[in-house]
Amino acid sequence: MQIFLDTADCQEIQKHYSTGLIDGVTTNPSLILKSHRKPDDVYAELKAMGIPDISMEVVEHTVIDMLREAHRLVELFGECTTIKVPCTPDGLMVCNQLAKENIRVNVTLIFSQAQAILAAKAGAAYVSPFVGRVDDNSFGGLCLVKDIAKVFREHMVRTQVLAASLRGVRDVGRAFEYGADIVTMPTGVFEKMYKHILTDKGLELFSRDWEQVKH
Ligand code: E4P
Repeated sequence: MQIFLDTADCQEIQKHYSTGLIDGVTTNPSLILKSHRKPDDVYAELKAMGIPDISMEVVEHTVIDMLREAHRLVELFGECTTIKVPCTPDGLMVCNQLAKENIRVNVTLIFSQAQAILAAKAGAAYVSPFVGRVDDNSFGGLCLVKDIAKVFREHMVRTQVLAASLRGVRDVGRAFEYGADIVTMPTGVFEKMYKHILTDKGLELFSRDWEQVKH
């Protein structure tokens, strides 16, 4: 049951990584753009922080160029590198080759069980079903996680299900309940995982009572 942060905001990542509860980070071109930094600078800072697993997306247009970029990233950042490729014919060819070289690949933009099956066949370490974006299009994102996890379990597939594009805390629990191995989320969702109104109320009451008994 691993928790990844889905952001390229290094300050936020550092804050939450220090809790000891974070296992990795996923980035994508939009998140890197939002950080106003160069991708390599973000990855270098995350590596220096000690993040053990960082998904770095390659967006080149040919298999050769994607492979070249993947190898460059692995060369630069080493063991913490997970190469993220889209679930396209080219992306899966790249995945297949990198898997043979024992390089971790996260196949992203997964919207169907069929895509997840192909990614697993291509040797992906992770498949990333986009729960929130499926929901945005009026079909069940969490059901997709469940369907993929079920078929992987039944066929003893080693590829892990990384539930992505999560919009809220409830999705996190459900994704794990439905068989996700890893859940990636924005820092705002991670922060909300701690929160419960009854915890706040209970704490307030205990603190008040403690004031009267502590001396
Ligand atoms: C996954 O790795 C993606 O970075 C991410 O979860 C996409 O989420 P979004 O749909 O909120 O952009």
